[in-house]
Amino acid sequence: MTGRLKDKVAIITGAAGGIGSATGQLFCEEGAKVLLVDRDEPGLNSVVAQIRSAVPSAEIASLTADVSEEASASRIVSTAISTFGRIDVLVNNAGIRAYEALAEAKTETWDAILKTNLLSYAWLTREALPHLRASRGNIVNVSSTHGVNPRAGMGQYDVAKAGIISMTKTLAFEEAAHGIRANAVCPGLTLTPFHLRRAQAEGRTREDLDAEAAHGCLARRWAEPREIAYPILWLASDEASYITATAIMVDGGRFVVG
Ligand SMILES: NC(=O)c1ccc[n+]([C@@H]2O[C@H](COP(=O)([O-])OP(=O)(O)OC[C@H]3O[C@@H](n4cnc5c(N)ncnc54)[C@H](O)[C@@H]3O)[C@@H](O)[C@H]2O)c1
Repeated sequence: MTGRLKDKVAIITGAAGGIGSATGQLFCEEGAKVLLVDRDEPGLNSVVAQIRSAVPSAEIASLTADVSEEASASRIVSTAISTFGRIDVLVNNAGIRAYEALAEAKTETWDAILKTNLLSYAWLTREALPHLRASRGNIVNVSSTHGVNPRAGMGQYDVAKAGIISMTKTLAFEEAAHGIRANAVCPGLTLTPFHLRRAQAEGRTREDLDAEAAHGCLARRWAEPREIAYPILWLASDEASYITATAIMVDGGRFVVG
């Protein structure tokens, strides 16, 4: 442990998932106190147990909440404040996926994606801002490589991810006077349990997944969730004190189909 987030308090949403749990563990390893948030209660409980076992000194609280409901934002922030007394870092990371061409895109899918992947970031940020202003803290929003380079078949998701980048930059401009930094991380192919489950359901093997990644980016492989967590950690830490209003591609040099 090197204490890169020593004494900082962080909220991480989507913490039961691949990138969120890796970020939660890394933040704990680096001395942060973390509030892990997810709607998947059993998943959240198992991530908390896993982090406590890997990092016995970890100071963790967890909250089951659906971030796509506006009212969750105040519950999340008040839990962080009542548990830890301050907020230094907000990592908006919760996300869902949908695979509909725009020609068939359903209104309910648009609604779910925009509420979960974009509006939840706006609502939780708005609620946390008074505390982030007090701590001169920062926000790391998890977007996607496809927020910059859209593709066919996931238009609703890619729109939301582009919106996150735009919102991050607006926030950086608006909150700079309060000492707040805001940045986005844009992951590429990151092998999480979600991708493994989806591949299995579609009859694709691990070899198929690896072949997909080999043709998908310069790194020719999937990222481990921890490889996304490290740039999040860096942006959240004081090491990135001069970095704001940016979106960092963490995608192994993703190939873009023109
Ligand atoms: N894995 C990738 O290849 C990849 C690539 C680019 C971007 N991302 C982004 O990274 C983030 C994390 O993705 P991941 O790969 O770890 O996915 P994941 O599916 O493993 O985790 C997402 C987590 O968000 C939670 N969640 C979803 N909707 C929620 C809601 N309404 N309220 C509370 N929690 C909710 C889920 O329960 C899950 O635990 C997402 O925003 C995703 O879009 C992932």
